[in-house]
Amino acid sequence: MLPSPETIAAVDAAITSRHSVRAFLPTVVSRQTVEEILAVASRAPSGTNTQPWHVYVLSGASKAALSRKILDVYDDPQALSALSEEYDYYPTEWVSPYIDRRRKIGWDLYGLLGIGKTDKARMHAQLGRNYLFFDAPVGLMFTIDRVMQQGSWLDYGMFLQSVMVAARARGLHTCPQVAFLRFHHIILDHVGAPASEMLVCGMSLGHVDPAAVETLREIRQHACGEPARPAAEPPDLD
Ligand SMILES: Cc1cc2nc3c(=O)[nH]c(=O)nc-3n(C[C@H](O)[C@H](O)[C@H](O)COP(=O)(O)O)c2cc1C
Repeated sequence: MLPSPETIAAVDAAITSRHSVRAFLPTVVSRQTVEEILAVASRAPSGTNTQPWHVYVLSGASKAALSRKILDVYDDPQALSALSEEYDYYPTEWVSPYIDRRRKIGWDLYGLLGIGKTDKARMHAQLGRNYLFFDAPVGLMFTIDRVMQQGSWLDYGMFLQSVMVAARARGLHTCPQVAFLRFHHIILDHVGAPASEMLVCGMSLGHVDPAAVETLREIRQHACGEPARPAAEPPDLD
């Protein structure tokens, strides 16, 4: 049977309305909703059905305690400089067109927030909002067993997208976050993950704050043309 136009529209809308939200309302998301989202997402395909994902769900006091632990280090330049990521999410040498897109998204966001190129304190504070999960009521930490190989990371990406789309189907928004990678020791210890697992990324989940300036309009442009601003070191989003 062919799907109805409504079904097509609903699936398309769940996919196309997904964008990274960086300001959430405190509105609670129930445990049942989180479990539903993860159950739906776990139908993502994986090589020989290995399902390589592990998810740690944080809310309330536990989420707040993790934010505090991370921010204590993030706000201490010496402690921060001693940390490193466990895997390279980004290239070590940037080339066009990727560097241009990276610069554009960074400057677009900071432009919306009125953060100037020299305003290091506000940049630091904005990047630090990652560690508060942008005020979302739910934080997700995703890990993978270290024995799993590159193929499983492909599977993982499909799972992550499925989480984000299933969230949209329920009127919720997300922000996937590699900003957490530097703090993998703190995070894995906090959630009680075994040493056999490594951190893939984090994610904020909740209801968008429609009044927040950084979510008032789409800042992304997929068909990225020339960078909106002259080449300059982009501010870090993550
Ligand atoms: C795996 C992954 C990690 C990301 N990490 C961060 C992050 O740490 N902080 C952040 O603000 N955005 C993060 N993003 C969001 C990207 O900046 C965003 O997806 C991109 O600019 C496209 O915009 P859109 O998601 O709104 O479509 C991440 C995205 C992905 C896929």
